[in-house]
Amino acid sequence: MASVTVRNLFVSYHRGRTVAVDHVSFSVGDGEFCVLLGPSGCGKTTILQCIAGLIRPGAGEIVIGDKVVTSAEKNIFVRPQDRNIAMVFQEYALYPNLTVRENLAFPLECQGLPRKEIETRVQSVAEMLGITELLNRRPAQLSGGQRQRVALGRALVRQPTVFLLDEPLGNLDAQLRVQVRYELKRIQRQLHATMIYVTHDQTEALTLADQIVLLKNGKIEQKGSPQELYEKPSNLFVASFIGSPPMNLVEGNVMPQEGAMWVDAGVFKVRVEALQLGKSLAPNTKVMLGIRPADISGRPSSPTDLRISATVDLLEPMGDSAVLHALSAGFKITAKWEGSLLRPGEAVTLFVNPSKIHVFTLPDGGNVPKALAGAAGLEGRASL
Ligand SMILES: Nc1ncnc2c1ncn2[C@@H]1O[C@H](COP(=O)(O)OP(=O)(O)OP(=O)(O)O)[C@@H](O)[C@H]1O
Ligand SMILES: [Mg+2]
Repeated sequence: MASVTVRNLFVSYHRGRTVAVDHVSFSVGDGEFCVLLGPSGCGKTTILQCIAGLIRPGAGEIVIGDKVVTSAEKNIFVRPQDRNIAMVFQEYALYPNLTVRENLAFPLECQGLPRKEIETRVQSVAEMLGITELLNRRPAQLSGGQRQRVALGRALVRQPTVFLLDEPLGNLDAQLRVQVRYELKRIQRQLHATMIYVTHDQTEALTLADQIVLLKNGKIEQKGSPQELYEKPSNLFVASFIGSPPMNLVEGNVMPQEGAMWVDAGVFKVRVEALQLGKSLAPNTKVMLGIRPADISGRPSSPTDLRISATVDLLEPMGDSAVLHALSAGFKITAKWEGSLLRPGEAVTLFVNPSKIHVFTLPDGGNVPKALAGAAGLEGRASL
């Protein structure tokens, strides 16, 4: 296996009018599972195609292991077939006239491997993916999930240095997605494989990744471990993209009162000191406060918790817990609810530990539209 480094990658179309990838840099360690995450059109597939050697970027460099495979500046371009990379496309194509065994063996036959070696590899990959009993069937005799596993298997048999996977679970139903996702992670660990995996599904990214690279409009918004992106989102876009249900966002004004500095968010007022920012906020600054639904509770965690009086709008049962939608002073609050059953219209008191509140500064001192609360697509501003 090998590491992958992408430096200052730039790809544009329509003579520069559409910028698909805008000076993107990241490194994937040997044996690391990296997820490229972001909304549709943010450049995920384009980056993957550059690494695979299917696209020549306008600028930048790609290094696999210790070999420069693409460099626009030095005019280096290694052909895709010489990069020892396996790519699984979302629209995986299996050969319909070949059996599963023949489909898996095909890339190895192309490499001219001895028959015995091919048989061993096919058998071992089939066992890993739990498709041994399907080896003599043709793709038309398989379910979608089984076909997806065969497509993955065809990449795995090749034992490449790097796997590139473009939304490989896109065609599976919810249950199969979870199952194949688990298998994929297990195989990646077992093989100590370097994988770069594209998805727009943040849950998939959080569960699979060692490192997430979150993109918007061809630019990196934040890269880091799932925990870093969840706990320390560097701007409002990251904050609202990561986490389900999404973070609650409410605008607040910083103001002095009774000898202390407060943020007044309408629904509640909180002392700046209690937010544990490690820095002060100037009076009259506008900020956006973010609270994860999981950080709102029906019971206080400490005496300093903020209390929010609200009215139940709807309780969505999720089995072992529920998602509570409540209203307070015209503000919609979403909370993960583990308490008793609540009826619409019922009064409820919610508690928030102020140290769990995320604080974001707003552009030009404020004027962020109300509609923005809870929505993605926000301008990036540093989190405090
Ligand atoms: N061949 C092309 N010609 C012109 N524009 C392109 C081409 N391929 C991609 N683009 C544009 O580049 C941008 C990035 O596309 P890309 O396919 O990388 O996005 P993506 O993140 O993979 O999106 P999705 O999640 O929908 O697959 C988009 O604005 C897209 O319209
Ligand atoms: Mg894509």
